[in-house]
Amino acid sequence: MTDPRNLSDLLYETLKDIYFAEKQILSALPKMAEAAQSPGLRQAFRTHESQTETHVERLEEVFELIGKPAQQKTCNAILGIIEEGKEVMEEFKGTQALDPGLLAGAQAVEHYEISRYGTMVTWAKTLGLDEVAELLATTLDEEEATDALLSELAETTVNAKAA
Ligand SMILES: [Fe+2]
Ligand SMILES: [Fe+2]
Repeated sequence: MTDPRNLSDLLYETLKDIYFAEKQILSALPKMAEAAQSPGLRQAFRTHESQTETHVERLEEVFELIGKPAQQKTCNAILGIIEEGKEVMEEFKGTQALDPGLLAGAQAVEHYEISRYGTMVTWAKTLGLDEVAELLATTLDEEEATDALLSELAETTVNAKAA
């Protein structure tokens, strides 16, 4: 009667979710960089694109460490966030509000990732998977740094230009 599924299964399911999400983000970032008007915002998207490639590779290392196949599982949350970003790009194309809209969409992506990686780091530690926890925490740091950089861009240039 007891359900055999446990925390390590939950970690594996969440890894598949974020693996899918990272790959979606990887294909969205070049389009966001192209759409961005401010050079600083465009550069931030390009830099994060190369970091995101590393996030995908780190996840593949994690799958190897836990001895399970690197599989993707549809993440509806990221699809929704990316879809909303596309709407902003269309609705505010050619306006000064485009960059703040793009930036806000990118922060929604980062916050989703921060939430997922934060949870997975905690689970990996609980499970005694120290190496896994370390890899995930490295990515978490980069997501947090990107979020902070976006906030700084919003406050210093992007929003002011659109006001
Ligand atoms: Fe990422
Ligand atoms: Fe990210």
